[in-house]
Amino acid sequence: MYSRSFCLRLYKQDKRGELTIIWYKKLEINLKNIKKNLRAIKNFLPANTQILPVIKNDAYGHGLLEVARVLSEEKVFGFGLSEPEEAFVLRKEGFSQPILLLSGFEKDWLSEMYTLKITPVVTSLNTFEWLRNFVKNRNVKWRFHLKVDTGMHRFGIDLEELDTLIEKMKNSSYFFLEGVMTHLSCAEKPEHELTQLQLENLKKVLERLKINGINPKYVHFANSGGIIFLTEKGNLVRPGISIYGSYPSFKARELVKLYPVMSLKSRIVEIKKIKRGEYAGYGPNFRAQRDTILGLVPVGYGDGYPRILSNRGFAYYKGKKVHVVGNVSMKALYLDITEVEKPQIGDEVILLGGDNEEVPVDKLAELAETISYELFCSLGKSIPREYKYA
Ligand SMILES: Cc1ncc(COP(=O)(O)O)c(C=O)c1O
Repeated sequence: MYSRSFCLRLYKQDKRGELTIIWYKKLEINLKNIKKNLRAIKNFLPANTQILPVIKNDAYGHGLLEVARVLSEEKVFGFGLSEPEEAFVLRKEGFSQPILLLSGFEKDWLSEMYTLKITPVVTSLNTFEWLRNFVKNRNVKWRFHLKVDTGMHRFGIDLEELDTLIEKMKNSSYFFLEGVMTHLSCAEKPEHELTQLQLENLKKVLERLKINGINPKYVHFANSGGIIFLTEKGNLVRPGISIYGSYPSFKARELVKLYPVMSLKSRIVEIKKIKRGEYAGYGPNFRAQRDTILGLVPVGYGDGYPRILSNRGFAYYKGKKVHVVGNVSMKALYLDITEVEKPQIGDEVILLGGDNEEVPVDKLAELAETISYELFCSLGKSIPREYKYA
């Protein structure tokens, strides 16, 4: 008897009624590698630098709680998120570290954020006013961080508004500025004029605050790229992608060794032998140039595997690199397995990651004309995850 659970896992029931999972696609999440990556990053940091890992969007598709748990064991300062829902989940599960909502907040969130001790990040005069009214009306004290737009022009207060903000801050005793942050557009390119400009602008902001007697405890601007490439890193850093074992750029591979955390594995579920000149798949977008053996794998764009990898992607099968041929469909793709010895239905294939980084995410992302972040997030949405702790 087979049944399908809500999370799309197939189970097989034996005679005694025991259920075992029949996996045919899964995301293996190697949590031990998160620890290894964190330690690799620490090597770039002066002692006493605090770490605020960014675990927004379900920890970049790796699973919010599992990742938060393993990072907590490494005594990180706190967590960086974007959305309050994820912060509430962490608090409900007992995580007591500081949580920063890095992209600001809505007025309506403040009450719950205060109750749950979530640190607000002020990103505009508007959000400052909301916060000011909240603490004043409640007659409470609350620490906050200030995000400054130093040139990326995403979230963050405009430089021209800084003096107004400083005046308002000086007139309020209800809260204090614990940290000043900015986000760099291309920290992995330290020589880029925008990186230089952003760092210069941040320096000016800190000077203006200092002149006004405001000295935040934390200054933070370094994401993974910043940690690896910048000389100055601030005293709090916000790594994301590197924790998950992907490099902020190909150049970073020369400077640090990271370990893949997410591996996408599946099985050959059908084998087709086609003759030279025959077609396969939708379109049809593949015509065999030789007699060809195709392995059908039940993973497609409906699972977050990009369709653009049609005739472009690659995988690992029995220790060999094999190529995606034909159009990726919603729930299936073809691999050309002509060169593989004795292919069998049920054999495992690695579509991403792997213990020895057989399918590097940044290389697959490049072929898919995207970035590893997007691949992680897309795949992490629907494929069942299996956690490895060792
Ligand atoms: C404000 C902020 N800080 C840090 C990070 C982490 O960046 P990365 O994943 O490149 O290390 C992000 C990611 O989007 C971010 O938005």
